[in-house]
Amino acid sequence: MIKSFTTEAANTVYHQPIMLRESLEGLAIKPDGIYVDTTFGGGGHSRAILNHLTTGKLFVFDQDADAAAIAATINHPAFTFIQANARFLQRFLAFHQIQQIDGLLADLGVSSHQIDTAERGFSTRLAGPLDMRMDQSGNLTASQIINSFTGEQLTHILRIYGELHAAPKITKVLLAARTKQPINTTQALKDIVLPFSPPRQHAKFLAQVFQALRIEVNDELGALQAWLAQSKQLLKPGGRLVVISYHSLEDRLVKRFIKTGNFEGDLQKDLYGNPLQPFVPIANKVIVPSEEELAANPRARSAKLRVGERTSWSDERLY
Ligand SMILES: C[S@@+](CC[C@H](N)C(=O)[O-])C[C@H]1O[C@@H](n2cnc3c(N)ncnc32)[C@H](O)[C@@H]1O
Repeated sequence: MIKSFTTEAANTVYHQPIMLRESLEGLAIKPDGIYVDTTFGGGGHSRAILNHLTTGKLFVFDQDADAAAIAATINHPAFTFIQANARFLQRFLAFHQIQQIDGLLADLGVSSHQIDTAERGFSTRLAGPLDMRMDQSGNLTASQIINSFTGEQLTHILRIYGELHAAPKITKVLLAARTKQPINTTQALKDIVLPFSPPRQHAKFLAQVFQALRIEVNDELGALQAWLAQSKQLLKPGGRLVVISYHSLEDRLVKRFIKTGNFEGDLQKDLYGNPLQPFVPIANKVIVPSEEELAANPRARSAKLRVGERTSWSDERLY
């Protein structure tokens, strides 16, 4: 457990916030506004938002008990931490009598703390159990997926979430290996799959395999779509949606949602051909970390930030 971290230590050791300035600019914080951070992690973004609030409020989610321990060190009248999956965003906010918000920030994926804690099983470098749960009380682990899912399911996960061309071949070897003994450690998984890695690309290949499993364990794309859809109802006209994503599957969903209000990227139009957009993108191009940030923090390298502003258009007007 990391309960002994001080607030300051937590900020440097736990996770270095990515595109902090750009995130704050995207949120365009009103000091009296109501804000949500769906991915607290080490709280770097949350603390910066709090610094901009006077009478405003910040509601923060994280499903990880370690993040909850860090959040417990923040003593600020505007701050409310909710240890839950953000897929239940609207339900928890309703519990706190919040129906409308001015801005929502999400910094997707895993924190440095989660990656660097060997026993969480997220790291391709460290020896640990094949766990990969962001919520330590969750039912599904990576080893359960590898040892019990069908070949078809495994191929789907590796191909779609890992974008691995060799998915069927990797599945075949996993199925054969698990009949001999269960695959329960990061090292065992690496030993089995590495022969399928393109030469000189082992790190990238392993990252793809681990990413695929992590996405399935945590239903990351399902959760993302669930809370994004709810954000449409929660954000006031003029409210800001700011999302930092780390792989193309997430970024595609965010991009389409901000452009069209749905995940298919299907822009609806009224009888006169005017677009019916719940959001307008704030920057035309995706925002990426500066050279300085990349030099200081290589973990920022795949980050993409998108900002949408809620319009006054609402689906209900269609009916
Ligand atoms: C990249 S870190 C966030 C780092 C944070 N912005 C900071 O500056 O420290 C992502 C965090 O979000 C949490 N998380 C990811 N998806 C979540 C979800 N759907 N619901 C709740 N927490 C989630 C993870 O457990 C992790 O702690």
